Amino acid sequence: MVEKFELAPGFHISRIIKGGWQLSQGHSADATEDPIESMFAFADKGITTFDCADIYTGVEELIGKFLRARKQRLGYNDDVQVLTKFVPDYDALATITKSHVEKIIDRSLRRLGKERLDMVQFSWWSYDVDRYIETAQWLHEIQQAGKINLLSGTNFNTHATKQMVSAGILLTTLQIQYSLLDNRPENSLAGLCSENNIHFLCYGTVAGGFLSEKWLGVIEPKPPFENRSLIKYKLMIDEFGGWELFQSLLNLLKSIADKHRASITNVASRYILDRKQVAAVIIGAKTSAHLEENLRIFEFALDDADTKEIEKVIKQRKGPSGDVFDIERIKEGPHGSIMRYNLNQQATD
Ligand SMILES: NC(=O)c1ccc[n+]([C@@H]2O[C@H](COP(=O)([O-])OP(=O)(O)OC[C@H]3O[C@@H](n4cnc5c(N)ncnc54)[C@H](OP(=O)(O)O)[C@@H]3O)[C@@H](O)[C@H]2O)c1
Repeated sequence: MVEKFELAPGFHISRIIKGGWQLSQGHSADATEDPIESMFAFADKGITTFDCADIYTGVEELIGKFLRARKQRLGYNDDVQVLTKFVPDYDALATITKSHVEKIIDRSLRRLGKERLDMVQFSWWSYDVDRYIETAQWLHEIQQAGKINLLSGTNFNTHATKQMVSAGILLTTLQIQYSLLDNRPENSLAGLCSENNIHFLCYGTVAGGFLSEKWLGVIEPKPPFENRSLIKYKLMIDEFGGWELFQSLLNLLKSIADKHRASITNVASRYILDRKQVAAVIIGAKTSAHLEENLRIFEFALDDADTKEIEKVIKQRKGPSGDVFDIERIKEGPHGSIMRYNLNQQATD
């Protein structure tokens, strides 16, 4: 039984969201399974919510194909929710216009084959370019015009979220990194979001697969890594306190997982699903290889003793500190320098 969460009246999402970045060109090697059939497998099992973005090259198009195929095969596709993003290029922030925003939204509508987007998650690379409120207001106007159902944000910190709330922009959710390795949302963002009924959609709960049996007892890996998620989350493990502390966490998660006949990945995601403000976790999937295992998340509960033991280990963390996505915004820093900032313009129509 896949748990559901009602984000807005009548709009339910599955509490595991299928992440789409893994399917984009540039993330990792090509999928070994037909991505459309893999999307059928997820939706048929009740994981009906798919995350994507205008900058995940080729992914909105793939989901659009899937929606058409589902309609053809079953006669309906309105059981699937597609959460996309609007991520204007770093180099376009200073000169962005409403018509540019509208053009990108129209392109997402075309790619997905929809008349109205279920959700647009707004992203802004740099607070130094102080135009995100204005841009969010344009998105709000486009929403009022009927092209967007729910408006949300991604990677905004407490200050920026507060500014948007004060400007009257209703954000349904914030998509942020929140995991056993990264508890920055608890510092101040969760409090603000609780006051304003904004829920979290969390990525990073399985740390690119690092939070799994595969890495238990393994010596510290060195680059190059197999895919971009592993590059990203190895840096998070370094922030957290390094490989040794990470192995202590994996060992503990393994014993808790064994007790519940579950996996490390299950326990790591279940812990985040149980946190305040969390509506869902987003787990990246190129294929349906981990689908059955990840469904086990809905079949057990962590007890107080499990939670206390987990908290004892994660309290030893050294970081990451500060607010959500603040270290990632330092362009020359280790987290910022691995990002690609101008993918939108490159994405063809
Ligand atoms: N808003 C943002 O800035 C942002 C940033 C990052 C991600 N996201 C979203 O979040 C999604 C998740 O991406 P992520 O990079 O954070 O990746 P992730 O979900 O932390 O990791 C996904 C990988 O974990 C492994 N995995 C999944 N279930 C597993 C299991 N049960 N056992 C073992 N390994 C398992 C798989 O790797 P293998 O296939 O190699 O086994 C899978 O590709 C993205 O697709 C995207 O939609 C958003």
